[in-house]
Amino acid sequence: MRPSLLYCAAILALSNYVHSARILGLFPHTGKSHQMVFEPLLRKLAERGHHVTVASFFPLKNPPANYTDISFEGIATLGLESFDLNWYENPDIILRLPMIGRLVKQLNDFHPLAGMALKVCSKAVDWPPLSEALEKDYDVVFVENFNSDCMLGLLHVHGINAPVIALLSSNLMPWSADRIGVTDNPSYVPVISTDYHSRMPFWERMGNTFLKIYHKLWFRYLVQVKEQEIIEKHFGRKIPDLEDLGRNISLMMLNTYHALNGPAPLVPGLLEVGGMHLDPTRKVIPEVCYFMFVKYKCP
Ligand SMILES: *[C@@H]1O[C@H](CO)[C@@H](O)[C@H](O)[C@H]1NC(C)=O
Ligand SMILES: *[C@@H]1O[C@H](CO)[C@@H](O)[C@H](O)[C@H]1NC(C)=O
Repeated sequence: MRPSLLYCAAILALSNYVHSARILGLFPHTGKSHQMVFEPLLRKLAERGHHVTVASFFPLKNPPANYTDISFEGIATLGLESFDLNWYENPDIILRLPMIGRLVKQLNDFHPLAGMALKVCSKAVDWPPLSEALEKDYDVVFVENFNSDCMLGLLHVHGINAPVIALLSSNLMPWSADRIGVTDNPSYVPVISTDYHSRMPFWERMGNTFLKIYHKLWFRYLVQVKEQEIIEKHFGRKIPDLEDLGRNISLMMLNTYHALNGPAPLVPGLLEVGGMHLDPTRKVIPEVCYFMFVKYKCP
């Protein structure tokens, strides 16, 4: 027998002893659209024989075997992802200023995310089903990288050392790039809240740079530092800086695709998985018509 055949035979003989992975997913954001991106991945992992435990605001209706949901329902109200059209119809005086108005609007869009993160964190530190799940062992942990690093602190407190994979349902947040070592130079990588693209005139590059610095400071001082305080106060001990825990992730998966999101530098630890949530089975598109965001019956 050739050696390669021998290896194959040995692998086949031992295949009875292959074990599935114990996977934990932590998704503390209340937005349904985010979970819609992660859900098919988690479901598929369970369907392929892994043990999957998922803490989120959106438990599955019909979970596959070996899929355990830990519901955050009751911690905070769910994000219906609605927005107030009044913003557009009656913008106040500042918002009507050219350029400044656009910047102010983007800053305002981010602000509520800090309050949401802190509210969820302060309850999650003492959420019995989550604490119970964190007492078990895992081989790999998925954590959403969005408006909170609370879950990284809880993993540390409960002594879970498994590699962490960060998932994003969008492009990079302004505080994501540093933790995986990719460059997001604001002269050509637009900040996620803007409608800029990679070729920016000078004044857009100025605005983009300002937003990047502002959002990073905002996340550091209005989210990370405060979450650290919440965790340290609750458990009565110091934990490593959440920023350092964030930089210890092993992989980051982004819901982007270069043809749609524009070119940007990548590193091997940063994977573009744009469209991983799409259902490949062909379905008939229902006959509804849209005007702007309003659905109505077609004439
Ligand atoms: C669920 O887990 C058990 C125990 O590991 C295993 O025997 C069983 O095959 C798994 N079920 C599925 C559908 O993967
Ligand atoms: C980061 O991970 C390494 C290797 O797993 C570990 O030795 C180190 O303590 C971790 N750093 C922090 C801040 O947890």
